[in-house]
Amino acid sequence: MQELSMFGFPVVFDPSDNRLVANAADVSYEAYSRKLSKGMFGLLADAAYAAQDEPYYDFYKAIGRDGERAAFAARALRYDSTVIMQGAAGNEYKKTAGHFHCEVPGKGMSYPEYYQVIKGTAVFVMQKVRDEHTEGRMLVEDCLIAEVKAGQAIVIPPNYGHCTVNVSDETMVFVNLVAENSQNDYAGVKRSVGMCCYILQAENGGYRAVKNPHYDFACEPKLVVPTDNDVLGIYDHHPVYSEYLRTPQKFDYLTSPEHNMKDYFQVFRDK
Ligand SMILES: [Fe+2]
Repeated sequence: MQELSMFGFPVVFDPSDNRLVANAADVSYEAYSRKLSKGMFGLLADAAYAAQDEPYYDFYKAIGRDGERAAFAARALRYDSTVIMQGAAGNEYKKTAGHFHCEVPGKGMSYPEYYQVIKGTAVFVMQKVRDEHTEGRMLVEDCLIAEVKAGQAIVIPPNYGHCTVNVSDETMVFVNLVAENSQNDYAGVKRSVGMCCYILQAENGGYRAVKNPHYDFACEPKLVVPTDNDVLGIYDHHPVYSEYLRTPQKFDYLTSPEHNMKDYFQVFRDK
């Protein structure tokens, strides 16, 4: 068992079955679900990959202390966790199904999302596209590929589709803080056979990003890493769960994102 202190409440990781286990009587989650490899067909770099029941990732909805969940609901936010298994399909690292978020009513932009890595190393692929809702090929106007290590955090800017990739040689765990009203739209990414870049195993270890040929590009993908950001509440090795409970109003940008359009891009620096 491995204590995962970055959660902000007592949770341990059980390596025998890759499950998160509450380590206090008042820690729980609302729902648990598992994604298998067959649920990733049509999103993978290798269209011939045929393993059906390979575990990909687990989702723990609204995880936290029972007495503190209401503090998140009070600002219409939810704190969830995802566990991505170690490994690859062919040479493509295991990843989540990419998606865009729905628009914030009346704001002309979609909900942002706060992510913090708890264990392992993640790569987040973020893409801004033209023609998300049309039937043709999408044109990529911006693509950020962020390497995020355990303890570090990022915010997905409004209007950016995103997926998370486990590039480590261990099971990877991350958490998200997101508006309860944010709905995931998977259709555009599915139509394009995944996100605009695939994250593949490099020959010498590590990873490399390869463009998805189903997209057109008006930009080159940028490799970035996160930096601390006081406005968005991003502090390395500081659990966002605890930070939220300390200063919940700081995270109102997750439901009213229009005031911070410049701040979202201050979080990233070139790798
Ligand atoms: Fe999301």
